[in-house]
Amino acid sequence: MTSLTASHAADLVAALLFILSLAGLSQHRTSRSGVVYGIAGMALALVATVVMAAQSITAGAVALIVLAMALGAATGLWRARRVEMTQMPELIAVLHSFVGLAAVLVGWNSYLEVEAHGTAQTRIGADLLGIHHAEVFIGIFIGAVTFTGSVVAFLKLSARIKSRPLMLPGKNALNVGALVAFVALTIWFTVSPNLPLMIAVTVLALALGWHLVASIGGGDMPVVVSMLNSYSGWAAAAAGFLLDNNLLIVTGALVGSSGAYLSYIMCKAMNRSFLSVIAGGFGIEAPSGGKEEQGEHREVRAAEAAEMLARARSVIITPGYGMAVAQAQHPVAELTRQLRDRGVDVRFGVHPVAGRLPGHMNVLLAEAKVPYDIVLEMDEINDDFADTSVVLVIGANDTVNPAATEDPSSPIAGMPVLRVWEAEHVVVFKRSMASGYAGVQNPLFFRENSSMLFGDAKQSVEEILRALTADGRHQESAATRQATTAGR
Ligand code: TAP
Repeated sequence: MTSLTASHAADLVAALLFILSLAGLSQHRTSRSGVVYGIAGMALALVATVVMAAQSITAGAVALIVLAMALGAATGLWRARRVEMTQMPELIAVLHSFVGLAAVLVGWNSYLEVEAHGTAQTRIGADLLGIHHAEVFIGIFIGAVTFTGSVVAFLKLSARIKSRPLMLPGKNALNVGALVAFVALTIWFTVSPNLPLMIAVTVLALALGWHLVASIGGGDMPVVVSMLNSYSGWAAAAAGFLLDNNLLIVTGALVGSSGAYLSYIMCKAMNRSFLSVIAGGFGIEAPSGGKEEQGEHREVRAAEAAEMLARARSVIITPGYGMAVAQAQHPVAELTRQLRDRGVDVRFGVHPVAGRLPGHMNVLLAEAKVPYDIVLEMDEINDDFADTSVVLVIGANDTVNPAATEDPSSPIAGMPVLRVWEAEHVVVFKRSMASGYAGVQNPLFFRENSSMLFGDAKQSVEEILRALTADGRHQESAATRQATTAGR
């Protein structure tokens, strides 16, 4: 009884720590403490679960649990230390797939346990058997959709398969049909549980998860990642019901609802219909390609860009995925410091889906110690471009594409973008004229006030820094010469 009370108290404290973690993670300044609360909550939850389990299982089983935890912790630490920031979304997708797979295994295990021993040796009362069967089915369904959906998201994000949407004929009917079949199978299973139905729901859900994510185009992948995050939460909650684990239910519900809310916010930021994205791209047409060039572009060298910056009154830097690839955040931060020392007003404009995961650019800029107060969200800075001397587009593409606002036939039409083209000069840092993540050509590159600075973003920014330093020395020695002449 005492250990049960202690276990409930531990569950409650862990659940509170998870809530504090979510609250902390919602702001830059408190994000570190959010991570610490999350780690503390998870450590407490794991210890409490193992201690509770140890009272009713054999020492051998406890040893197996500890071995599994040690293996998991070692693998997790090894991957987390090696993963590049740009590979984070892929890693997250893989982790979601584990949660989905775990929910499927828990569901199958729970079914087989009842089949083998009846309700006598389980915690389930005979009167609750129908509910248990429904829980098994729902858990397996959500878990399997999450599993294959996350695997496809991983394959797309790591460019192992094409990011274009799969357009099977009647794809919406396929999705809706699978949902209707699931409901019918669940009713059948609660009345007459049997193995063929278990296999049928597992195969159906695996196929649906695959199809749902395969049908979604590259531009919508951020929402898919956070949607899968939400599904993995619901899968964990379903497993919590089957395992009679309250903390798993609470944690699953927290992950499920916060993931769903984040997806909703991202859909709003990308002007996408929330329902259409979670329903596997319902109503979204396949992108029409658009790799064709749209006119002449101008090139600029690093030294000329440095001159432009030295003369500028105000500069806005809009970073994107290319800054992460090039790991250019440190020289970008140094450039910011030097320009601010010269009296130039420098700010950053961060698009909500710049990069490959929510908050990607904010994390990189914070790592390079760019002050928080000059890093602004898209909505905070979008009206200021018209009054800006120079915009540096560093490895961004889709998030600064005017076609989103000007071309209704563009695959990214309607997505809010940073209106960089309204500035006096725009310098675009990239390696070629290639399109961005959504595979859409960018008319910004061919505007009168745009120039391309080709090359790796880190090297280009470092070259600008060298040119600025040389210019600074030149100005200093000119000033010294003038002062000496005046003194004579
Ligand atoms: P993107 O549209 O992905 O474009 C990045 C650009 O960076 C590319 O055009 C590439 O051009 C350039 N680049 C790559 N490596 C570079 C390097 N070493 N040096 C210089 N440039 C380099 O970037 P974005 O504007 O950040 O947009 C993000 C896109 O990803 C959106 O479509 C968004 O929907 C999607 N997405 C976002 C997320 C989240 S949650 N943020 C998750 C998944 C997908 P070159 O090859 O010519 O250099």
